Formats: sequence, C-alpha cells, structure tokens
Amino acid sequence: MEIEVLDNYKKLSLKAATMVSSQITSNPNSVLGLATGETPLGMYEELISMYEDDLVDFGDIITFNLDEYLDLDPHHEQSYHYYMYNNFFNQVNIKEKNIHIPQGKKENCKKICSKYDKEISRAGGIDLQILGIGTNGHIGFNEPDHKLHVDTHVVELAEDTIEANSRFFSSKDEVPRQAISMGMSSIMKANKILLLASGEKKAEAIKKSINGEITTRHPASLLQLHTNVTILADQAAAKFI
Ligand code: GLP
Repeated sequence: MEIEVLDNYKKLSLKAATMVSSQITSNPNSVLGLATGETPLGMYEELISMYEDDLVDFGDIITFNLDEYLDLDPHHEQSYHYYMYNNFFNQVNIKEKNIHIPQGKKENCKKICSKYDKEISRAGGIDLQILGIGTNGHIGFNEPDHKLHVDTHVVELAEDTIEANSRFFSSKDEVPRQAISMGMSSIMKANKILLLASGEKKAEAIKKSINGEITTRHPASLLQLHTNVTILADQAAAKFI
C-alpha cells in the first residue's frame, strides 16, 4: 500500500484527478471504477477542468459505478445516477453507452446483479478503481459483517451508514435502507486502486485500513492484500498514521 498525505482537500482532489488522467492518457480505452459520496467531488471538478482545457479525453473510457441505493428513483437528487450525471458525466465527452451504474431496482434484482458482473468481465475488468471509505470502513456499500460478498449484491445498509448519509437527505427516515453494491471481487481484481479520504471523521477508518487486522468487520482492511493500492489522505484523515 502506498500512502500519500496531502496538505488539504484541494491538493488531494488535484492529485487524484492527475492520477485518473494519467491512466486515461496511457490507455484511452481504460475501464474506470467510479465512486460517489462527498469525497470524490473535488476530483470530478478537477477532471472537468482538465477536459475543458483539452488535457484529457473521456471519449473512449468505460465506467462502472460501485453502487446505487435500492428503490430510489434515478432522477432523485440523492440517487447515485443523478450524482454522476450532475457532477461529472454531463460535463465531459463520455459516451452514454460506456456508462454503467447498477440499477437500483428491487424487481429482478438477482438478474441485474449478475448482468452487472458480466458487463464488468466483458469489459476486461477494471483498470483503475476509485474508492471512498465509510466511517465504518465500508467500501462501495460492502458493509462490515462476519462475511463479505464476492459479486454484485443487495445489501442492508449499516446503521452508521444510514446515519452518515442522512446529511444528504431531509431526514434520516428518507435514507434508503438497502442498496446494490459491487462485491469485493471486482474491486480486488482491479489492476489499481485509488482510495480517497478526507477529514478527521475518516482518520480512525484509515488507521484500521492500513495498520489494523485484515477482517470483514472492516472491509477496507482487505485492501492490504492487493498489490497496487494508493491511499490519498489529507492531513486530517491521516491524523492517526
Ligand atoms: C457512501 C458510498 C461510498 C462512499 C462513502 C463515503 O456510503 N456508498 O462509496 O465511499 O459513502 O462517502 P463520503 O465521501 O461522502 O464520506
């Protein structure tokens, strides 16, 4: 694991965007695994600026998002579909056919999950996977548990996650209780993983991911088993390392 501590969130976002754009420059057909949440927003902003300055071309990349809430309309402002189009896809030249986000539908869920895994395999797997981290150590929506899922699956959100994500909804009751998430396999099979962490509330989770025991109770600790992981943390998130 490589850990790079940046002075602040702005520098972290710029560094992350530079790493993504280098990946695309070295392979314009790159398959990117994308994350949502507050943390990668700065990275998406930097990537949009780079695109506007003709420094990066998203025309041939393929993307797979990590997760989506279950039974939340894709047009809902807190859906990850809305987030991705609003904060990134609508502002760059990515092709619609190359965008993949799990469909957050309860109906035919098993089919949706296995189709998603097949699409990732058909694309040749993920070249660069971007991750955030939950305060409880979750990655994607792979929540701490006595076991983890290999494939894309439906997950019951942990109480800490519902609490943490309630800041985006008008009340905690509005936060969906279930989500669909890529499993650990597609994440761990990615050639490179880039995990972003910002703010003191992530400091404990980062410490456990790097130095803690490898346990399904802290899903990000499994990243210690991967051979190409970079963690970008700002000073506050790196407080305990
Ligand atoms: C959500 C997402 C994760 C994300 C995490 C942290 O629950 N499913 O993919 O990494 O929250 O989000 P934030 O960056 O807003 O702290």
